Amino acid sequence: MLIVEMNNLVVFTVLLKISFSVGFDLNKTVACNIQYYFYHGSSLSIYDIKSFSKIIDNPNFDPDKPTTFYIYGTIEGIWVPTVIAVKDAYLANGRHNFIIVGNKNPFLHVFNNALIIADKFSENMLELINSGYDYSKTTFVSFSLGSKAIAPMTSRLIKMKSNNKFKLPKIVALDPGIVRNNELHLSGGERLNSNDADFVMTVHTDCHYWGTKESHGHVNFWINGGCDQPMCVNDFTKSVCNHLMAAYYWAEAVKSDSKTAFKSRQCASWKHYLKKDCDLSLPVAYIGLYTQANITGDYYVRTKKVVPYSRS
Ligand SMILES: *[C@@H]1O[C@H](CO)[C@@H](O)[C@H](O)[C@H]1NC(C)=O
Ligand SMILES: *[C@@H]1O[C@H](CO)[C@@H](O)[C@H](O)[C@H]1NC(C)=O
Repeated sequence: MLIVEMNNLVVFTVLLKISFSVGFDLNKTVACNIQYYFYHGSSLSIYDIKSFSKIIDNPNFDPDKPTTFYIYGTIEGIWVPTVIAVKDAYLANGRHNFIIVGNKNPFLHVFNNALIIADKFSENMLELINSGYDYSKTTFVSFSLGSKAIAPMTSRLIKMKSNNKFKLPKIVALDPGIVRNNELHLSGGERLNSNDADFVMTVHTDCHYWGTKESHGHVNFWINGGCDQPMCVNDFTKSVCNHLMAAYYWAEAVKSDSKTAFKSRQCASWKHYLKKDCDLSLPVAYIGLYTQANITGDYYVRTKKVVPYSRS
């Protein structure tokens, strides 16, 4: 998968260079290909940047429910197994309007284009708010590229363009991708941080290549230490597998609608956690839709190797 992605990147870069030399407008192409997939029951309604604000006119859009926007990762699409797992979990849960934010062309859904996507998405959200949408019911759930760039940048742009009137209530960042110093401009000069929403929670599952060891949220969950997942055993695909597990764990928590899934402890480190050397007077926390928004710090939890992954 790593090799496939690298090959795709080379092909993509070459195509981009050719396209530029014939006067191709990348911004416009990226924006025109943005898709919003609104799932309801067994049906799907697809919107683009022009039609987006009509989502609230869809009879299946319930203004009384909270709305979750799921922003997937690099070159993903709605056919990707983790995206399907998260979608199915929200549909099974049934308590949310659920919309996936992506691009018709997976090769346009990349870090280099994150600012263009965030810029359009923020404009679309402001149009939706102007059409009567209640922004205070919004959560951005994001994975990888979505977490490290598109979700936080969109939130910042909505705040900025509305003169601080609209602040995002919540970001769930599933294994936020690492942002290296030389890439910082691609995430708007800032990494995901606790100013990006009233409550920012991160869920870490890979620390080797795709994810990060840094704490970015109000609360950060380090599942199995945040580096290696016990079901990821193939050396070649290990890091990708670790990374993707963040989405599967989240899907499990959402589907169960549990208030007590993935019972986690605040601890100085994973090593301390394994030695049961944590301050037991500190409150425990759970991963899922009901994670208490008043907790902060680094939390650790162990999972099982097979479904259900949660031990609690
Ligand atoms: C493309 O979009 C980016 C991000 O919104 C912006 O900074 C840049 O100026 C745009 N380029 C053109 C040629 O419009
Ligand atoms: C957090 O809020 C819950 C209620 O949602 C409350 O029971 C708990 O005591 C609070 N914890 C802290 C640390 O403030």
